[in-house]
Amino acid sequence: MAFYRYHLFICANQRDDGSQCCAMFGARKAGEYLKNKAKEAGIHGPDGVRINRAGCLGRCDDGPALVIYPDEVWYTYVDNEDLDQIFNDHLVAGKVVERLRLRTGREG
Ligand code: FES
Repeated sequence: MAFYRYHLFICANQRDDGSQCCAMFGARKAGEYLKNKAKEAGIHGPDGVRINRAGCLGRCDDGPALVIYPDEVWYTYVDNEDLDQIFNDHLVAGKVVERLRLRTGREG
C-alpha cells in the first residue's frame, strides 16, 4: 500500500525575470488553501493525501500547474472553485476533473 493515497505537488515557483511562472497566479496561496482543506477534512497525512509546494514542474506555459500522483494527472486552475473541484472530485472521490486537466499527450 502506498504511504499516501494521493500526493499533490503544486508549483509555487517565482521568477524574477518577469517570465511566466506559477507564483504570478497565486500559487502559494492555492497550495495553502488545499493543505488547509485536507487538514480540515482530516485526510492530510499518511494513508490520506499530502499537499506539497514544489519548485518549477516544467509546465510553466500551461500554468499555474499541479500534479497528483500516483495517477500522474496534471491540472491547472483559476480560482478556489477550481481547487475545490480538484479536491472534492479527485482527492476525495478519485475522479479526474477533465475540464481542468492539462494534457501530457500520453493519456490513455
Ligand atoms: S513555474 Fe510553475 S511549472 Fe514552471
